[in-house]
Amino acid sequence: MDKLIIEGGHPLRGEVNISGAKNSAVAILPAALLAGAPCTIKNLPDIKDVANIIDILKQLGAEVNKESHDKVIINSNTINTYKVDFELSKKLRASYYFIGALLGRFKKAEVPFPGGCDIGVRPIDQHIKGFEALGAKVIIEHGIIRAEADELVGAPIFLDVVSVGATINIMLAACMAKGTTIIENAAKEPYIVDTANFLNALGANIKGAGTDEIKIKGVDTLGGCEHTIIPDQMEAGTYMIAAAASKGDIIVKNIIPTHLDSISAKMREMGVNIIENGDSLRVIANTRPKAVNIKTLPYPGFPTDLQQPMSVLLSISDGTAIINESIYDGRFKHVDELKKMGAKISVEGRIAIVEGVPKLLGAPVCATDLRAGAAMVVAGLSAEGETVISNITHIERGYENFENKLIKLGAKVKRINEED
Ligand code: EPZ
Repeated sequence: MDKLIIEGGHPLRGEVNISGAKNSAVAILPAALLAGAPCTIKNLPDIKDVANIIDILKQLGAEVNKESHDKVIINSNTINTYKVDFELSKKLRASYYFIGALLGRFKKAEVPFPGGCDIGVRPIDQHIKGFEALGAKVIIEHGIIRAEADELVGAPIFLDVVSVGATINIMLAACMAKGTTIIENAAKEPYIVDTANFLNALGANIKGAGTDEIKIKGVDTLGGCEHTIIPDQMEAGTYMIAAAASKGDIIVKNIIPTHLDSISAKMREMGVNIIENGDSLRVIANTRPKAVNIKTLPYPGFPTDLQQPMSVLLSISDGTAIINESIYDGRFKHVDELKKMGAKISVEGRIAIVEGVPKLLGAPVCATDLRAGAAMVVAGLSAEGETVISNITHIERGYENFENKLIKLGAKVKRINEED
C-alpha cells in the first residue's frame, strides 16, 4: 500500500485543470447499457471508481474501447448477462446504478449490494421504492438485489429522502417504461442534469432534471450519442480549500462556477478572495480565515462531500465553528486523524465543534475514506513539518493524478511504497 509524504508550509501557486466529475461518470457509464447503438463518452476522470465501473460493463459483456486517457466508446449490444459480479460490485457505491440500467433494458437485474465509503448508514430503500412503483418485483437474498418486471409502467414517485442515487436510478429504469414517470422531491445535483442530458441525447424524454420534479416519458428504444462529462465540482472545491489552507494563490480551470456557488460563498465569508472568470476561478488567501458555521445540505446547499476538507480549513481559522453534517451519520471519521495534528474538534453525533488553532503540526495519519483522505492532504499542505498519509487508495478512487496536480502547484508531495 502506498503512502503520501507531504512537507507542509508551501503555499499553492499556479493553475490546476479540473477533471470530469466522478459522480457523473459512475452514473453515465452504467446508463450507456440502455443505448441501442455505440456511445462515445469524453472527459472521463482517470480514477479507480471509473475503472471499476468499466470492469463491470466488460463483465456484463459490453465492448468498451479506451480511445484515450479520458475517452471511451461503449457498445452495449453485446451484453450477455444481467448478473453483476459480487467482487466487482462491492468495490464502490455506484454499482447500484446497474440495477436501474439492467432493469430498464432487460427487465431483469441481479446486483450484489454496493460498497463505498464508510460514512454512515447508506440504505437503498428509495431506489427499491422507485423500481417497485414502476412494476418491478424486488427481492434481496444472500446479499444480492434481484429486480424483475414483466413490463415497466410509468408512475408517480415521491422520494421520502432527497437522494442522488435513487433519483438517477429511477431515471434509468423509467426511460423505456410504458407511459410517464414523475419523480417528486428529486435531488438536484449537477450529476443528475448531466445524466439526464446523456439519456436525452440517446433519445430519452426527460424534463425537469435539476429541479425537484423530474418527468420521464417512456420511449420505445434508445440510440447512441457522444457526451462530455461535466467538470468535478468536488475536485475543484478541494483545490479551492487547499489553496486557502496553504495561504496560496491558484487558478482553478475547466469548471462551471455556478456548481461551486455554495463553496465560493462560504469561503468569501471566511475572508478568502475568490474571483470568477468564465470557466475558471482564482482563489487568493493571504490572511488567516475567519471561522464560519457549515450545514451540509442537498444541492445547491453546501455539499457533504466537501465537509471533511472544509473542516481542515476551519481547524486553522480564527474562532470557533459549528459543523452540522445533516446528510450522513458517520462522516467525522477524519476528526481523530486531524486531532493527531493538533486540531481541536469535538464531535456529538452529526455536530462537530471546531475551535480554531493557529496551525496544525505534521504527523503520521490515515485516510479513512475518500473525502477524509482529501482532507488529510489539505491538512498536510497547511501543517508545519511532515505529514505521512497511509491508505491513500481511498483517495485514488476519486481524485485523478492528485499528487502530480499538487506538485505542479508547488506542493512538496512524494508517494512512497509501504515497504520503502
Ligand atoms: C451520492 O451518494 C454520492 N455518490 C456521494 O458522494 C454524495 O455524498 C451523496 O450522493 C450526497 O450528495 C455518488 O454519486 C456515487 P444519497 P448516494 O442517496 O447517492 C439517504 C463521494 O464522496 N438515503 O443522495 O449514495 C442516505 O443514507 C460520495 O463522492 C436513504 O435513506 O447518496 C443519505 O443520508 C460519498 N435511502 C442521504 O439519503 C436511500 O434509498 C443522501 O444519500 C438512499 C439514500
